[in-house]
Amino acid sequence: MRALVVYESMYGNTHVVASNIADGLRSTHEVTLVPVSEATPELLAGADLLVAGAPTHMHGLPRATSRRMAVQTAAKEGSGLVLDPESRGPGIHDWLKSVAGGRVLAAAFDTRLSGVPAFTGRASQPIARLLKRHGYRIIAAPASFLVNKQSTLLDGEAERARRWGMTLGAVSKTYSPARA
Ligand SMILES: Cc1cc2nc3c(=O)[nH]c(=O)nc-3n(C[C@H](O)[C@H](O)[C@H](O)COP(=O)(O)O)c2cc1C
Repeated sequence: MRALVVYESMYGNTHVVASNIADGLRSTHEVTLVPVSEATPELLAGADLLVAGAPTHMHGLPRATSRRMAVQTAAKEGSGLVLDPESRGPGIHDWLKSVAGGRVLAAAFDTRLSGVPAFTGRASQPIARLLKRHGYRIIAAPASFLVNKQSTLLDGEAERARRWGMTLGAVSKTYSPARA
């Protein structure tokens, strides 16, 4: 089975989480990990499982305005933030609007601040909603991986992402073949 892991990331945390999820999935799947800018229709067409993730911005999915804010924050003196090489690429919100799922299995994840989800928001929820709307079959509850106020991934989150990837891989195997 083939899995496609697609991520959006401004400061690199969602990229790191996506890469750990991809590592976890490798125990059961042939995995391709790409930023949104490289998630071509051909890659999607060849996938049995799509895993999509983004940072939480303003309680939901990043948009052009919030991405600009992220760039401005990183540019401030002493921010300590480094922009991911793919940070200027297209966002997952626009990409998801253009992808039809057919019977492909899918799961959503995000990175967000540590805290009560009702206060922080969770980008994984709108991602899962959009995936469902486009015909994807969601196989796991949306997952959040946590950063601190300095936008640094909390200890243990990368490993948790790897384990989540392994679990997703195992769960997807219990579904009947997504494609004939
Ligand atoms: C413009 C902006 C808005 C943000 N809004 C939220 C928010 O509403 N809730 C939250 O938990 N985190 C918020 N954050 C923190 C991001 O979720 C955090 O920077 C992100 O998870 C880091 O992922 P990345 O390194 O892949 O960009 C915001 C960050 C930025 C730059």
